[in-house]
Amino acid sequence: MSAVLRDARRLLPMTVRHLDAVLAIEAVAYDFPWTRGNFIDSLAADHPAQVLQGAQSELLGYFVAMQGVDEMHLLNVTVARAAQGHGHGMFLLDALVDICRARRAQQLWLEVRESNHRARRIYARYGFQQVSVRRAYYPALLATHPSGREDAVVMSLDTQEALDALD
Ligand SMILES: CC(C)(COP(=O)(O)OP(=O)(O)OC[C@H]1O[C@@H](n2cnc3c(N)ncnc32)[C@H](O)[C@@H]1OP(=O)(O)O)[C@@H](O)C(=O)NCCC(=O)NCCS
Repeated sequence: MSAVLRDARRLLPMTVRHLDAVLAIEAVAYDFPWTRGNFIDSLAADHPAQVLQGAQSELLGYFVAMQGVDEMHLLNVTVARAAQGHGHGMFLLDALVDICRARRAQQLWLEVRESNHRARRIYARYGFQQVSVRRAYYPALLATHPSGREDAVVMSLDTQEALDALD
């Protein structure tokens, strides 16, 4: 990661004015993308949600999370396809862990498709542990999953340990 690239990025709270760009990224990233309504519901609920912009204010990625009691649930983290593999996903996770610390959310949870090996590798490298599997949790394409469903791997991160590792 060059210092120039790191300096050029900025995180902003997600608002409805970001949603056209968010939905364009979402449509390319997923077979079953979130809808505008999903994002609007999250914003209306005041869930933690941030966008990452590049030097030209282009949208590089975003996350949406949901706070529980002493914990946080990562609902969506996505990096624009053309911007993947440059550390933006890790940067977004760092930002969310900072929010967890500020809100005293010790545990950060997520679900990830069993077949999403890249994301699972990134989460594992970040320090997430696999906790359990939710059977047939996601809708899936019949071409790859004849049942039309796919398992979710549940992963969890101790945010205090993650921060200690970063310090
Ligand atoms: C999963 C996702 C958010 C990760 O974001 P990302 O920006 O690609 O992730 P990072 O760049 O931080 O790390 C990914 C890879 O880039 C590498 N990388 C990190 N910094 C890098 C750099 N400066 N230059 C080159 N590669 C780099 C990482 O080592 C990692 O390597 P890998 O190829 O072994 O996986 C992104 O791939 C994505 O949006 N995928 C589609 C949607 C999705 O699956 N979301 C998660 C649902 S649970």
